[in-house]
Amino acid sequence: MEERLKELKEEVLAKIQEASNIKALNDVRVAYLGRKGPITDLLKGMGKLPPEERPKMGALVNVIRESVTEVLEARMAKLEEEAINAQLEKESIDVTLPGRPIKTGNHHPLTRVVEEIEDFFLSMGYEIAEGPEVEKDYYNFEALNLPKGHPARDMQDSFYISEEILLRTHTSPVQARTMEEKKGEPIKVICPGKVYRRDSDDATHSHQFTQIEGLVVGENIRMSDLKGTLSLFAKEMFGNDREIRLRPSFFPFTEPSVEMDISCFKCGGDGCNVCKKTGWIEILGAGMVHPNVLEMAGYDSSVMTGFAFGMGPERIAMLKYGVEDIRHFYTNDVRFISQFHRTEA
Ligand code: DAH
Repeated sequence: MEERLKELKEEVLAKIQEASNIKALNDVRVAYLGRKGPITDLLKGMGKLPPEERPKMGALVNVIRESVTEVLEARMAKLEEEAINAQLEKESIDVTLPGRPIKTGNHHPLTRVVEEIEDFFLSMGYEIAEGPEVEKDYYNFEALNLPKGHPARDMQDSFYISEEILLRTHTSPVQARTMEEKKGEPIKVICPGKVYRRDSDDATHSHQFTQIEGLVVGENIRMSDLKGTLSLFAKEMFGNDREIRLRPSFFPFTEPSVEMDISCFKCGGDGCNVCKKTGWIEILGAGMVHPNVLEMAGYDSSVMTGFAFGMGPERIAMLKYGVEDIRHFYTNDVRFISQFHRTEA
């Protein structure tokens, strides 16, 4: 029986070494040490031995069982560690991989142009002023030297809400409001915002668009200040070699009034499709603030003078980015607006 025990021990130790995974090792445990295993069988058969041999044999079986169990447990621990390591290896994260890009939106092309214009004037010391889109007839027209019945009111077909209230047709009312607020003090502001006109929408007309108004009031403000300012602005927006030209024009709120053209940024003045073969592109209206406008807002026009200008960011954006239809700015098709990505700025 001792022989059989030794054989059994060798056999089970060999099996333990052979077992290459946890399941195989468990099978060995059940087969040899389990209730139906050969060691249990041997213990059961002890009854057949002469009584004096029983303690010795019993002790031997126990020693063998303990040493086998020890080897088996050590092997089990090793296999478990290997299994964990394999799993860790499989699930490892490569921290050097680039992250998943986060989808970000971008600024609307019009917002970009408005901000670009604002930045230029802010850098020149201007402040930003805002006014209501639902405006009084007084500020939209009367305070700008456009009394009731004035023929020039027809130039700006208006959405009236009541007899005295309308959707503002331009940002010029913010001029009048700012002057009223500043009570005779010098002023340097730009006024960006939405305006509304009773127009049939087409590629170049829209019932709602944006404008940026500029107003400078102070002692000794002259036409040359306006010209210098507009010239710098044209270079900033359309390139350093832009030239400007002022053509006489008419606005009830300025005297004299001008329209400013820039030399064509595409052909440089030779004539192309952008400048309609003239070499010049019309950008904005401007002029010296009419004395009536100053007086109505409480300024002494014999001491204070000013210049003003008004432009349409849609038009500027269309020229800058070659956009052919003004409606793109408010229909907001993502295929259109996503073309103007921040990084191209
Ligand atoms: N308000 C004018 C318009 O909407 C634009 C304009 C022209 C504004 C001349 C001005 C200006 O301040 O001086 O057509």
